[in-house]
Amino acid sequence: MTQQGSTPVDGASDVTIAEVRFEHHRDALGVGKSRPRLSWIVATEVMGWRQAAYEIETYGSDGRLHARTNRVESDQSVLVPWPFAPLSSRERLPVRVRVWGIDGHRSAWSALAPVEAGLLHAHDWAARFVAPDWEEDITRPQPCPLLRREFNVRADVRSARLYVTALGVYEIQLNGTTVGDHVLAPGWTSYHHRLRYQTFDVTTLLSEGRNAIGAILGDGWYRGRLGFDGGRRNIYGDRLALLAQLEINYADGTTERIFTDETWRAARGPILASDIYDGEIYDARLERIGWSAPGYDDHDWVAVRQLSRGLVTLVAPSGPPVRRTELVAPVAITTSPSGRTIIDFGQNLVGRLRLTVCGEAGQTVTLRHAEVLENGELCTRPLRTAKATDRYILRGGGVETWEPRFTFHGFRYAEVEGWPGTLQAGDVRAVVCHSDLERTGWFECSDPLINRLHENVVWSMRGNFLDVPTDCPQRDERLGWTGDILAFAPTACFLYDTAGFLTSWLADLAAEQAATGVVPFVVPNILPLSPVPAAAWGDAAVIVPWVLYQRYGDTGILAAQFDSMRAWVDLVATLAGKGRLWDRGFQFGDWLDPSAPADKPGAGLTNPHVVATAYFARSAEVLGQAAGVLGLADDNAHYLQLAAEIREAFDAEYATPAGRVISDSATAYTLALQFGLLRDPARRKHAGVRLAALVRNSGYHISTGYVGTPLVCDALCSAGEYDTAFHLLNQRGCPSWLYPVTMGATTMWERWDSLRPDGSVNPNQMTSFNHYALGAIADWLHRTVGGLAPASPGYRHLDIRPQPGGGLTHARARHITPYGLAESGWTIEAGQIEVAVVVPPNAEATVTLPGSNAEPIEVGAGTHRWSYPYHVKRARHPRSLDSTISEFIDDSEAWTTVLTTMRQHMPQLSSHMDVGTIMQGDGSKTLGQMLSFLPHADELRTALEAALATLERRGYLP
Ligand code: BGC
Repeated sequence: MTQQGSTPVDGASDVTIAEVRFEHHRDALGVGKSRPRLSWIVATEVMGWRQAAYEIETYGSDGRLHARTNRVESDQSVLVPWPFAPLSSRERLPVRVRVWGIDGHRSAWSALAPVEAGLLHAHDWAARFVAPDWEEDITRPQPCPLLRREFNVRADVRSARLYVTALGVYEIQLNGTTVGDHVLAPGWTSYHHRLRYQTFDVTTLLSEGRNAIGAILGDGWYRGRLGFDGGRRNIYGDRLALLAQLEINYADGTTERIFTDETWRAARGPILASDIYDGEIYDARLERIGWSAPGYDDHDWVAVRQLSRGLVTLVAPSGPPVRRTELVAPVAITTSPSGRTIIDFGQNLVGRLRLTVCGEAGQTVTLRHAEVLENGELCTRPLRTAKATDRYILRGGGVETWEPRFTFHGFRYAEVEGWPGTLQAGDVRAVVCHSDLERTGWFECSDPLINRLHENVVWSMRGNFLDVPTDCPQRDERLGWTGDILAFAPTACFLYDTAGFLTSWLADLAAEQAATGVVPFVVPNILPLSPVPAAAWGDAAVIVPWVLYQRYGDTGILAAQFDSMRAWVDLVATLAGKGRLWDRGFQFGDWLDPSAPADKPGAGLTNPHVVATAYFARSAEVLGQAAGVLGLADDNAHYLQLAAEIREAFDAEYATPAGRVISDSATAYTLALQFGLLRDPARRKHAGVRLAALVRNSGYHISTGYVGTPLVCDALCSAGEYDTAFHLLNQRGCPSWLYPVTMGATTMWERWDSLRPDGSVNPNQMTSFNHYALGAIADWLHRTVGGLAPASPGYRHLDIRPQPGGGLTHARARHITPYGLAESGWTIEAGQIEVAVVVPPNAEATVTLPGSNAEPIEVGAGTHRWSYPYHVKRARHPRSLDSTISEFIDDSEAWTTVLTTMRQHMPQLSSHMDVGTIMQGDGSKTLGQMLSFLPHADELRTALEAALATLERRGYLP
């Protein structure tokens, strides 16, 4: 084995600070913390670089040194406590950092990184919420109000800030220019408890003399329709209102404030109706030209009235806003069988359309959206009651560009009606919108199908991280289902920096958790029923903060959520009682296990109480560990003891002495193995063997639901069943991860057969084509196939353990950790494997080389390569009539060939029962023996021999 490290470089000048951040912000304008924690990333080629000390300085607005820490002996570079006096509201401090390595060399100072506090206290606001003073029919969408006022600005403005939010969603303009690039601000939080405001630097938008400010308000999540079964309107309130405070700081040190009060004026604007689910109607003939610029005549506008809503719920954002992140051009414009014009964007995405159109005044262009086509027509059935329809009524007289403001749709296809003339590809773009998170994770391998699967996971994350982690982005739901993010959080944290985003969502979860500890099914909670506890869904309260801690090294999130985490576990402990088994009440179970009846997604193979007690054990364990991290010794001991008792109770109640687990399903074994629920190693081994047998007996098709699917490959690997895990991954028949890819999927689906093998759209309820939950497999791809996992919180210590398999010849995972870019990849070529690892500065790694008996290797920062002979196991062996059914099942291509051939030759039998299922039941028999049970099978025998011979001729992997 040869190790070829990169050449060591020495010297202080080779160490720089690439980036300084505050909390989890990329842009620290208007932060909500008076003591924002600091993180920096060191850039250096110096092998094994580790930090010995740091120094931080801040500068005042006069450019003079404000404060400095002097040299602090510490290796900490992530979320370092704020070392200076707390920031006051509006205070802006440029900060710079330098570090010393353990080699004694010092880095240069970083560039100055500014941090600026927002309005930290309710009393900082002079503004009040104002609403148009008119009566409205609140039972249906209303025209979106415009609010405005004018004001004077003197010469010599030094800086200006706009602090703004709304009851509803808003867009705000200064002198005719839209402020910022946010979409659907202020986003969606649990408005009763937490309403975000935004801070904008508007210095350059002001001019000396007369100025104007104007805002448009939309219903959004605040008072628009939300929820399934028809949903409800006005959930948070029935009046839209604006809160805005413009602060103008002059060079002479004075400040002027313009804020929402009774001097503002209101009118109805051109948006006639706007709704998240149903879409937007815009009549361009009603535009009020110049309404947000000075000099506009607003004498016919009405007054506004002040609302009594207090300001204590206002919070600064902890994550990035929703933005337009990409424009997608049509790949085809076609005419459907019924004569409709349909645009295909080639990608299922979330956002809306932007039109450039020219036509007569009053002409109406109607846009309908859908994720799939059925019989060549738009298939809107999966949207349930969401109309997803936008209408634009032309102004006339020239080129008009329009994009709806306060709605979004999940779609790949759009139907266009009423277009003046012929629609051209250049006339329309899909505008992709989501929370503008920083991309931090990538994966690639030698199989294009797996790469597309991974790409689909990324697109589903983009589609469902629109301010709240939602189940789906298209139908009358789009809710923060807790169970879905529980499954997906590890994947999300790898692909994008979700720390600030999920911190906010968890604050909402805690705010909405009942005093009893019950966690609502969805956060923000808009469901009309009183919440009841449900395992895995409610466990998001414990597991999601733990994932954030593991992936970002943020102990603050554990401290912030600890009471919420504990309340959930205490509640379940009460429900379970002394027996420590949570075995009563409502459960979602292993939701959407493919064997569950289509109309009963919770009625899968696995006993829901097994799921409930397994998650109870897991959450108690995690809570105990979290208490340990926070230095809460009593809680640490108490919850670890509780976890031990639950494991014991689980073992006694649900496992046989040999190691079988009720319900003898893949999910039951997965949970037992992953959550350490079986005490005895021999029984654990037995459970692993049984899990592998079940996976094989299912023909390497998915037999797990939302609870089991994210963990099943990990459980197989922990039992040493790597090949079985790769077989499961490589399956292409339905249900499997790759089946949707073979059907042209560009996002993850809710049901494995959302699109059925015959191309028809699954007619059942809940047929989303954009659900990230089952995309949780990507986390396994990153950690196991790529081999890049955190061994300690924040990836300070990396566990690099790539696992080649499944016929792959290379794979690579890359992730921007809090310490910088880490990488793990391998390539097999000509009997050699090369493993390449990048460890970021100030971190280290334990590398376990695949296919080698060598001890794990400890390495420090830098690029490391190993190259050595590597023997690939034959991924496939020739199959014949003498091969056993199990051997066929192990070779998905050969198995598919057998099944297809049998179905072709025995259509009558296949229409009554599934031949695959029948044969899977007896894996030890040969195919030839199976055929001997069938009458008149000669023709079939010949056909099978021919088909297998063809397969053989096509060759096998080396
Ligand atoms: C959602 C799921 C969710 C489930 C729980 C569905 O409607 O789309 O993803 O977790 O309900 O009931």
